[in-house]
Amino acid sequence: MNRVAALLTAALALSVTASAAPRTLDQIRASGTLKLGTEGAFPPFNFYEGKNLVGFEVDLGNALAKAMGLKPQWVVQPFDSLLIALNQGRFDAVLASHAITPERQKAVTFLNPHYCSTVNIVAQKGGPLTRAALAGKTVGTQIGTAQIPILQAIPGIKDVRTFPNDQTILTALQAGRVDAWSSNGPVVAYMLKQTGQQGKIVIGEAISQEHNAGAVAKGNTALHDALNGALATLMKDGTYAKLSQKWFGQDIRCK
Ligand code: ARG
Repeated sequence: MNRVAALLTAALALSVTASAAPRTLDQIRASGTLKLGTEGAFPPFNFYEGKNLVGFEVDLGNALAKAMGLKPQWVVQPFDSLLIALNQGRFDAVLASHAITPERQKAVTFLNPHYCSTVNIVAQKGGPLTRAALAGKTVGTQIGTAQIPILQAIPGIKDVRTFPNDQTILTALQAGRVDAWSSNGPVVAYMLKQTGQQGKIVIGEAISQEHNAGAVAKGNTALHDALNGALATLMKDGTYAKLSQKWFGQDIRCK
């Protein structure tokens, strides 16, 4: 190996090491900044309005940081890489509408859910809106999501196609490249309203009920406890209710 290559290798090893350890609560407090990871393509939870990252989870994350006396700093990357990056310490916590699943619980430590929702089957008017109607049909869903195995288990389903995000699936559905779309109900409702597709595209049967929660790196207990404490405070002092009203016109906390 020549000298430049050796130096590069050393630098790479360093950067990998540097991002390999999730920060402890003490380290976070000392820095004054809470680093939050999200996707930025899941409206109205986390998305872009022009250049601004906005949404219910963005407002909530900012409020959580504030309640802990910290400054929020957002890191945005594709949904299917978020939990890996979390465990590599690229950010301290993730808020991206993850459903709590036994599979994910092996990899990360979930906070208490900040909302509950369903995952639905969505289709053009006259298209397949139930599990039974999906026999022989193609459904599009986001890569890395909890609904993929649920969709794959539907008897007779022809194909479960994965897409980078929900916007690309809505486009495919409109163009007839997939027969159906599956995503969280509030996201579909928001996107259909934004694009004026209500009535042309219809929200059908729920295929799962989710508890949607943030997470910290596996075993980052002190941070987990502090964030859960802050969340409980926001749920009690009216901050959560106000943000939920702002984005959904109702309180979406788990009942
Ligand atoms: N609730 C689904 C899941 O847990 C989808 C979440 C997608 N989140 C996002 N930011 N795109 O897999």
